[in-house]
Amino acid sequence: MAIPITRPFFGEREMLAVQEPLKNGWVVQGPHVEKFENMFSTFSGATFSVATSNCTSALHIAVAALGLGAGDEVVVPAFTWVSTANVVEYMAARPVFCDIDLETFNINAEKVEELTSPRTVGIIPVHLFGLCADMDRIGEIAQKRSLWVIEDGACALGARFHERHAGTFGEMGCFSFHPRKSITTGEGGMITTDREDLQTLARSLRDHGASRSDLERHEGAASFLLSEYNLLGYNYRMTDIQGALGCSQMERAEWILGERIRRARRYDEMLAGVDWLKTPAVPDGYVHGYQSYVCLFCPEEPTPANIEALHRQRNRLMIDMEGKGIATRQGTHAPVIVGYYARKYGLRPEAYPNAYMADRISLTLPLYVQMTDEEQETVVRELEKSFEQTR
Ligand SMILES: Cc1ncc(COP(=O)(O)O)c(C=O)c1O
Repeated sequence: MAIPITRPFFGEREMLAVQEPLKNGWVVQGPHVEKFENMFSTFSGATFSVATSNCTSALHIAVAALGLGAGDEVVVPAFTWVSTANVVEYMAARPVFCDIDLETFNINAEKVEELTSPRTVGIIPVHLFGLCADMDRIGEIAQKRSLWVIEDGACALGARFHERHAGTFGEMGCFSFHPRKSITTGEGGMITTDREDLQTLARSLRDHGASRSDLERHEGAASFLLSEYNLLGYNYRMTDIQGALGCSQMERAEWILGERIRRARRYDEMLAGVDWLKTPAVPDGYVHGYQSYVCLFCPEEPTPANIEALHRQRNRLMIDMEGKGIATRQGTHAPVIVGYYARKYGLRPEAYPNAYMADRISLTLPLYVQMTDEEQETVVRELEKSFEQTR
């Protein structure tokens, strides 16, 4: 693609950083991972950070650490990447889907409480595309009903709500460093928490349930002795090569996020007169991290009656853009219409009208820090042309 949907930013610093573990020979989870965790805590304000192999494994560890069990229920948004719900399924528990607010693409906090039952143990709000969910309201419900909260902050680096960074509101937060995210380690994830017991448990669960890490074992006395394994854990460790890459990306995080905000604001201005596209909302009190710049394609007010026609029209526009070498994407998907969930729980899109509409008519525009003004102008100009040609 001449203009891709995103592009990771790597410079000389990253090229040198990944060589360090290769040169010293310690390539599994080690000192660079530890440094990356500390940098992440400093950046986010979380007390503890625990790096993992990706955000899905971070979420899996989080639900396991909080004791999610068979038959429990967890409220999750109906529009999110499928792993938010999958980790609940991994524990033989049941995800209860809550519709979203179409303005923000986030869980409709006003609907969460009515979905709770005596079996509900937790809520996993998602800070989708870099905008925090309404953590005040979710916190109130969680407190009232004695539920835990895990923040799915896969997209939420740089996302703030009332000046607090994502991942510092609930019991645990989980982040992703997949290349679609603002900073990347190839694959990678991070758990944040303020609770020492949870960080200790998370460290053990990511490492087969071991009582001490390989590095501690090798650096300490009696390194020939294996750890104790009193928990059923997983191998969800991050490599030190990724850790080194993560450190160098963290050094640029403020700059990367600042550049993304600057580009997003420029899109806001350039698209202000385009009445068929709704640009991302940023309500008062929120800082958007702009992991993605996700719009709604709405030449007409979307309704259940016209949504399929709008969906087809959006797809024609996206195909036309693709033909010109400009990538666009739907925001994410609605797990309620994903085969596994629709079949298993007999879910119907009508029960989640906003999630369904977001699935059908969301439209992500290219955003990356290396993007030039000319590229951004090309995206907007060609978008308007494609709209006219495909309407
Ligand atoms: C909301 C959300 N949750 C979880 C994930 C999973 O992240 P990972 O690919 O790092 O496992 C993603 C990935 O895009 C996501 O968008």
